[in-house]
Amino acid sequence: MPTDTQFATDWLEERYRFDVAARNPKVEAACLQYFAQHPMVSIIDIGAGTGANFIYLSEKFPQSQQWALVELNPNLLKRARERLKIWAAAKGYTVRENGQRLDFQRSGQHIHIQLLQGSLLELPRLLQPGQYQLVTASAVFDLLSKQMLSDLIQTFHHNRLALLTTLNYESMAYLPGDAEDKRWIELYEAHMQREQDFGRALGPGCSDFLENGYAQLPTAQTLRAPSRWQIEPADTSMHGHMLQFLEKSLLEMTSMGHSGKGLDAWLQRKKTQLQAQQLRLSVVHSDFFTAPVYEG
Ligand SMILES: C[S@@+](CC[C@H](N)C(=O)[O-])C[C@H]1O[C@@H](n2cnc3c(N)ncnc32)[C@H](O)[C@@H]1O
Repeated sequence: MPTDTQFATDWLEERYRFDVAARNPKVEAACLQYFAQHPMVSIIDIGAGTGANFIYLSEKFPQSQQWALVELNPNLLKRARERLKIWAAAKGYTVRENGQRLDFQRSGQHIHIQLLQGSLLELPRLLQPGQYQLVTASAVFDLLSKQMLSDLIQTFHHNRLALLTTLNYESMAYLPGDAEDKRWIELYEAHMQREQDFGRALGPGCSDFLENGYAQLPTAQTLRAPSRWQIEPADTSMHGHMLQFLEKSLLEMTSMGHSGKGLDAWLQRKKTQLQAQQLRLSVVHSDFFTAPVYEG
């Protein structure tokens, strides 16, 4: 999976407010409710990037917390460390650092964080029985292959982990629409699912695969619901990022033999609309919570 260019720090920080606005409140409430009686919650966040999921979720849990942030890209993890320290100080926590650990403390609430550089594929090795109660992953699972996600589901199940996964890509639509949108968006989605060294990423098929995977297992509850980015005409920087992703991916597909007839004109129409602040984009994702049958 690419971990450098596409997911660079500025992109992850750009998308943060869209992710926050998109998160599905019912899915989130189900997760918080499940842990409401726990005096302490232990969470492992996989594909942590620059720590966005921690920053968003840690405030939602009123209790003390223990976190592990697993991220493959050491540069993103380094940025996460700095970002978390700044966040904690701004929120009035006392901040202590010890190697790859951060400890935040504020009026009886303790948050311990371990920063782990490594692959989420090594999770079975990283997990001690009973060490964590919840696994979280935001904007990660659509990057995985069927085999990877299927193995992870088994690992989560085996370790009796509840799962909260958010912002899994499903579809996108421009407004105003263009007769050519369908064709290029389909090719963009085909690019997400192209053959890569690890196989094909699930892309838009991720949430169905996840839901079907858990349907085979005994669970106390599962809940899937949409989380939608609404990118408004004035959100020019976010639109710019999206158009860059589209352009790069579509050009890669045309270089692999797909017809590029009409692509330049389509991209130019979008750029003109962007400059005139006439472009709206809705990107549909889904959020998913499941809890093991053993507790709750
Ligand atoms: C779209 S980003 C999301 C980051 C973060 N969860 C957020 O919401 O901002 C996907 C992240 O998954 C990480 N990633 C990709 N493959 C990984 C792997 N095998 N193990 C751990 N992290 C991985 C990437 O480096 C990237 O930081």
